[in-house]
Amino acid sequence: MATVTFAGVNMEKDVTVYAVAGDTGTLLALAKKHAIPIPFQCQDGECGSCLVKVTYLDAKTPMAIDLTEKEKVTLSINGKLTKELVEAAENAHRPPPYRLACQFIVRDETIRVQFSGEPGVE
Ligand code: FES
Repeated sequence: MATVTFAGVNMEKDVTVYAVAGDTGTLLALAKKHAIPIPFQCQDGECGSCLVKVTYLDAKTPMAIDLTEKEKVTLSINGKLTKELVEAAENAHRPPPYRLACQFIVRDETIRVQFSGEPGVE
């Protein structure tokens, strides 16, 4: 079961939600289902509005580290992803700190998701 805690600057308090297998899609879909106010526009990895910071809280190796090609391009343009961070994700399973909620697939792990409520600002 995935355990996701959303911590938005624009939220009164943190909200933790649980997603079971079959209920896991994108982080943005999970947020929308629970009325978490992560900003979004394109929902296709191109606008950067859904920028979030993800912290992995399990002791085990993080799973949800695969970046989509669109996510790599958009995060790089926004200055949130370097070549070194891409290599660390792809070769050493070290997740980059910033992600796009519409591209991030929720896995069976415990994460904390921070966002500002301002489109494209973590
Ligand atoms: Fe546009 Fe996620 S909503 S990149």
